[in-house]
Amino acid sequence: MPSILVTGGTGYIGSHTCIALIENGCDVTVVDNLSNSSAAVLDRIKKITGKKPLFHKVDLLDAKGLAAVFKARAFDAVIHFAGFKAVSESMSAPLDYYHNNIAGTLNLCRLMQAHDASTLVFSSSATVYGDAAVSPVTEASPLAPASPYGRTKLMIEMILRDIAMSNPAFRVSLLRYFNPAGAHESGLMGEDPRGTPNNLMPCISQAAVGRLPRLNVFGNDYPTPDGTGIRDYIHVMDLAEGHLKALEHIGRTGAIAAYNLGMGQGHSVLELIAAFENASGRKVPYVFTRRRPGDVAVLYADPAKANAELAWKAARGIETICTDTWRWQKGNPEGYEGS
Ligand code: NAD
Ligand code: UD1
Repeated sequence: MPSILVTGGTGYIGSHTCIALIENGCDVTVVDNLSNSSAAVLDRIKKITGKKPLFHKVDLLDAKGLAAVFKARAFDAVIHFAGFKAVSESMSAPLDYYHNNIAGTLNLCRLMQAHDASTLVFSSSATVYGDAAVSPVTEASPLAPASPYGRTKLMIEMILRDIAMSNPAFRVSLLRYFNPAGAHESGLMGEDPRGTPNNLMPCISQAAVGRLPRLNVFGNDYPTPDGTGIRDYIHVMDLAEGHLKALEHIGRTGAIAAYNLGMGQGHSVLELIAAFENASGRKVPYVFTRRRPGDVAVLYADPAKANAELAWKAARGIETICTDTWRWQKGNPEGYEGS
């Protein structure tokens, strides 16, 4: 049974990936400092899979605490989700972002080297492409992140490339996620951001359930068919399965490789609202507001490389994303803490 360490495993994408790992016979250990998640998710994982991952409440910045995790057991691979992820917050607190995301990754990599754990899947982001002039973007598109958050992702990609060059045993998959959304089909797990959400899908679902008074649609004057921004929404369980495929194929095409994980299809904000209303039978109250600074009109993936090299393809469309999000939101209007 492969032993996998999941950093950030109680977070949104990490927790869904734990389900996919356990269901595929992996033995999962989670490290998280709970700065943006709840330990209650571990019981939900058990409810769904019958197994509770071994959990260490440890901060990646705490090198001693993390060393104890590596001493306690050997890992065949590490999936590294832990990090801060809010773009606007990274602009007001860049030091916190560089410190947490980069120093945390350095601690992790040092311990991996010391314990001969040499297989790593890293959560990168489409944000490394910045204000891409043309969509779909391929892995060869220019890299120009527009925020400190995005720059931490690109810097970590570069650090991992350097480590892979220096250590012939090291195998890395850099997964550039587009717009993760949706929830586990059971309705027991989903996205539960602390405070007011920033991303579109949780804002839509919280407006539908009355937790937010309304959704602000940022701009209806973009050069798109309905004037609202277009993005590539990918179901979180498709994303979770992408990590399994990355582990399976890691190292086959070189020591380190980057992959776009997206549907390869763009949807506008208004299309997503309509799909959500259809799935939930609820009206989503919204108003048009000014464009959000830093937003681009259109960004979606060319996932051909992941399709070909990882034998992975996102299968669930926006209808499933909305149906699953609504099931989660309806059953857990206050998220995990309300349960
Ligand atoms: P999340 O905030 O739900 O999960 C991240 C987890 O990491 C949280 O549980 C948090 O408590 C933990 N964490 C943060 N800093 C830590 C530290 N120093 N030590 C230990 N634990 C720490 O976020 P998510 O949406 O699940 O994202 C997971 C990863 O994917 C992140 O690296 C994020 O940047 C990346 N990503 C997310 C998106 C998205 O839209 N959700 C898109 C692209 C990339
Ligand atoms: C944002 C981040 C990106 C990060 C990604 C995933 C910015 C500029 N980009 O991407 O770096 O990788 O999240 O975490 O923050 N929208 C609304 N109203 C809302 C929220 C969003 O209209 O309340 C619109 C946006 O203008 C955009 C679309 O919905 O057109 C998607 O927004 P969002 O979910 O925040 O993702 P991105 O902006 O693509």
